[in-house]
Amino acid sequence: MRIFHFDELGSTSDYLKEKKNKKQWDLVIADIQSSGRGRRGNLWVSPPGAGLFSFALKEDSNLSMEEYSKLPLIVGIALLEGLKNIVELDYKFKWTNDVYLSDKKLSGILVEKVGDFFIIGIGININNLEFLGESKNGISLKSATGEKYEVLDTIKIVVNSFEKYWNRYIRGEWKEILYEINEKNYLLNRNIEIEFLGSKISGIGGKILPNGRLEVETPDGIKEFMVGEIHIKL
Ligand code: BTN
Repeated sequence: MRIFHFDELGSTSDYLKEKKNKKQWDLVIADIQSSGRGRRGNLWVSPPGAGLFSFALKEDSNLSMEEYSKLPLIVGIALLEGLKNIVELDYKFKWTNDVYLSDKKLSGILVEKVGDFFIIGIGININNLEFLGESKNGISLKSATGEKYEVLDTIKIVVNSFEKYWNRYIRGEWKEILYEINEKNYLLNRNIEIEFLGSKISGIGGKILPNGRLEVETPDGIKEFMVGEIHIKL
């Protein structure tokens, strides 16, 4: 694994997307980002002490796009399990790919495709106590435990965890991985609202299905969602 570490970048994902001669597992880390990006065009506030990194996964022509559609879910569970090695807390997986702790966002994932690479960008609130922008309802490992953690070690553990999960997935262990994902399903039995194609649908979150979709019990019956922004209704 080649590691490219910077004091500051606009965005580790943008840097890696534009990088020439990329290789599988190239890992770009920044101590801070001046224009960190979240999903749906959101800003990702990137202060010192946070884990801010992106790595490259080369597209394998033996895998279909349908198989790659599970990638965000696999990154999510690998991140959650990797974090357990840093400190054992009750992390939850919020479909499609956020990690929550105590009902607050701890980490976000941005998966993008450029050429024959998937660029996996992850932001983890580690030692930062500032959660502005999209992650204003945020929490960090430090704010949760009062302890400080090694940012670089945390990042390496998460990337190694992803490598293990990805190898399991390629070996055909999706069923087992999905079981693990569902055990951590933050949305299960919660009142939620999904913003989908400009409309809002309310319902009760269900399980994550073998096709990667989220099952939701709506007033019009059980529906499956592939994408959508989820809000929890308290
Ligand atoms: C989200 O929850 O909306 C995804 C947030 C992803 C943020 C990370 S920080 C490292 C990488 N570089 C970026 O610009 N974004 C991702």
